[in-house]
Amino acid sequence: MHASLPQSASFSASGPLNGQAAVPGDKSISHRALMLSALAVGESRVEGLLTGEDVLATAAAMRAMGATIERGEDDVWRIYGVGVGGLLQPETALDMGNSGTSTRLLMGLVASHPITATFTGDASLSKRPMNRVIEPLSLMGADVTASPGGRLPLMLRGISPAVPIGYRLPVASAQVKSAVLLAGLNTPGITRVIEPVATRDHSERMLKGFGAELSVEQDADGARIISIRGEAELRPQHIVVPGDPSSAAFPVVAALLVPGSEVTVTNVGLNPTRAALFDVLRMMGGDIAFINAREVGGEPVADIVVRYSSLKGIETPVETVAAMVDEYPILFVAAALAEGRTVARGLEELRVKESDRIAVMAEGLRAIGARVEELEDGLIIDGTGGDRLPGGATIAARLDHRIAMSFAVAGLVSKAPVVIDDMSPVATSFPVFAALMTGLGAEIA
Ligand code: S3P
Repeated sequence: MHASLPQSASFSASGPLNGQAAVPGDKSISHRALMLSALAVGESRVEGLLTGEDVLATAAAMRAMGATIERGEDDVWRIYGVGVGGLLQPETALDMGNSGTSTRLLMGLVASHPITATFTGDASLSKRPMNRVIEPLSLMGADVTASPGGRLPLMLRGISPAVPIGYRLPVASAQVKSAVLLAGLNTPGITRVIEPVATRDHSERMLKGFGAELSVEQDADGARIISIRGEAELRPQHIVVPGDPSSAAFPVVAALLVPGSEVTVTNVGLNPTRAALFDVLRMMGGDIAFINAREVGGEPVADIVVRYSSLKGIETPVETVAAMVDEYPILFVAAALAEGRTVARGLEELRVKESDRIAVMAEGLRAIGARVEELEDGLIIDGTGGDRLPGGATIAARLDHRIAMSFAVAGLVSKAPVVIDDMSPVATSFPVFAALMTGLGAEIA
């Protein structure tokens, strides 16, 4: 993947952002829609699918394992699945590009099929830890040969029948949870995942929607116990993918920070396991309203109206880290412009995302003149109280879309331009980012 060449771009102090925009489909839901449709027997239709590189990597992999996946001229995707248990041996390595979600969820699917697949990825993905999925999938009987440190490239030999397990997640990770549940789909009996900290529940919702027998209970300590009965028969579905809250985060924070802005972001998924950023921004004093609340494809959705606000620093809640795990980079930018100190902790998982987002954000924010202290598990940021940042630096995006977009937004509230060395990673999740921001009035050169 990452066919595109590095593209640098410069972001400068912007006049007010105004207007209405719709963000592309949710990345997490798009991956799952393709995977489950590819396992249902018959034609599923998916509307609003994100056509970012990460999701296209999932589509290519499901095709390589036998599914037929077509994008219609009406932008409706039609998927003809192979049935649970029907995945075919891919003839070549599965190129996962930059996508951790594709890799970990597909490893789960392959684990309980009698096929072998090799997973490769770009330089960022090849640094990310895979032992967190290798461990439970090995307990189920899969055989994995990974590169040193449990990294890509790796070869996974699945097994059928696999062994059902009860697995307590050692890290709060929806990808690990989903890998085990997807492996459980073609495993006889009941596979259980115990999740001490709730993470995004799109897999559970969609598995149920496709007709899998899945239940969620809570134990005495409040942990979620998710049980799935295997050898399920999935029924084809019509899925409408809501807009991605993780993408909406960028225009929302930009509108909060640029004086005089008022922006409406339409059709944003607000699943409570995803939407904590908006609560935290409100706690900081952000003027954010949800209108036209409705349900789309089994997920809560609303339009977000956001106005320029004077933000105040806060201690970010640790209970909701998982519900905004991808949004900390852009939250740190908001904190850098807030009045007073923001302390964000409990974020060790940020160090193993597309980049080490704690280190990369600390370094980049300092380079553009913000006051930041790096902690092992987070950042302390002393904000400007609304004054523009000095800016005037080039930021290395390091194959991390959210780093690129966060500093792009920072450029809109900096005195001197902020240059991003390579915006091409943005195509993994938000291909129309620059056009959308320009449409709202942002200055991009
Ligand atoms: C995702 C889960 C999260 C998130 C990622 C998407 C998913 O990763 O950061 O962008 O779709 O399941 P972890 O499971 O590593 O927390």
